[in-house]
Order: sequence, then structure tokens, then C-alpha cells
Amino acid sequence: MALSWRKARLDDAALLWRWANDAETRRNAFDPAPIPYADHVGWLERRLASAATRLLVFSDEAGPVGQVRFDVDDGVAEIDIAIAPERRGHGLGTVMLREALGCLRAEWGEGLRPRAHVLAHNERSLRMFRRCGFREVGTQERHGARALVLEPAAAAKDSGDRG
Ligand SMILES: CC(C)(COP(=O)(O)OP(=O)(O)OC[C@H]1O[C@@H](n2cnc3c(N)ncnc32)[C@H](O)[C@@H]1OP(=O)(O)O)[C@@H](O)C(=O)NCCC(=O)NCCS
Repeated sequence: MALSWRKARLDDAALLWRWANDAETRRNAFDPAPIPYADHVGWLERRLASAATRLLVFSDEAGPVGQVRFDVDDGVAEIDIAIAPERRGHGLGTVMLREALGCLRAEWGEGLRPRAHVLAHNERSLRMFRRCGFREVGTQERHGARALVLEPAAAAKDSGDRG
């Protein structure tokens, strides 16, 4: 199974908002509050204009599959990932994450350290990251929720930073 990808555009706003605002995605976010559409559009404009952000939309023959965002800062590429609600649980997240990491390496080289913060209850996301070679390097509390900090095993081994 291979997916195609392209950079997100402003006219993806409604699609990305639907994925970001669905109940499961909100439950798995540090801030579970619903996102007003106008806020989302302003946020998307800023992200698309940022040289430190890559926002990729993945599709297959049946249509849009999901999105991966990398926010790069100080040698770390923080990952945000979501699959369209109606397409979850079929292995697409695992495939999409692998392909997105390939895009990241192709553009930025091997020097960046991918990192994800996953709430401890988000079993599906934890399994997806582990399946793609990520390991726990620390934990973090935000807004009263506990997240596991995950990095690829090779990067984690070299890391002095425990998130
Ligand atoms: C998290 C997410 C991206 C995973 O993508 P997905 O396509 O649904 O996941 P996959 O089908 O690739 O499955 C990933 C793993 O979870 C397992 N899994 C699938 N459904 C599951 C469920 N309901 N509960 C627990 N594990 C589940 C799969 O078996 C697989 O594990 P394995 O490889 O060890 O067998 C997707 O579910 C999603 O968008 N969730 C909402 C947003 C979110 O939580 N984003 C991540 C924030 S850190």
C-alpha cells in the first residue's frame, strides 16, 4: 500500500479542520477544546507561511487519507498526525507516518530528530509510533495530562535531552 502526498494549501482548510475537530482527535490533544473555524483558518495561514513547518496531505485512490505536520525547531521535528476519522484502524496511519518521515529526511537530511508527544491513553497512536521504530524517551505533563515523548530508537540512543 503506497500513498501519494502533497503540501497542504489554504483551500485544505475545511478538510483539515474536520480532521482536527473530530471527537477522537480532540480527546487525544493536549487542549481538547473544539477549534472555531475562524481560528483554524488563521492558524493554517500562519503555519503555511512558516519556513519551519511542513504540512503534508496524504491520499490514496479512494481520496484524502490524513495529514502529517512537522514543526522544526532546534534540530527537532515535532510531529502532529491525524487520519481521516472514517479511515482509521486500517493500517493507514502506520504507512503514512513512514512515508512522511521519508519526506522529512529527503528535504532536511538525517540530522533532524523526529519527536512525538502522545497522550498515555492513546493506544492506537502509541502502537503506530512504536511500529515505526519510535521508543519512549521521557514523559511530559501539560494541562494536567500525561504524554509519552517518543523518538526513533537510533535518535533516542544519542539523545541527551529527555523531553
Ligand atoms: C492515531 C492515528 C493517526 C493512527 O492511525 P490509524 O490508521 O488509525 O492506525 P493504524 O491502523 O495504522 O494502527 C496503528 C496500530 O494501532 C492498532 N490499533 C488499531 N485500532 C486500534 C484501537 N481501536 N485500539 C488500539 N489499537 C488499535 C493497530 O493494530 C496498529 O498496531 P499494530 O501495528 O501493533 O498492529 C489515527 O487513529 C488518528 O488519526 N487518531 C486521531 C488523532 C490522533 O490521535 N492523532 C495522534 C496524536 S499523537
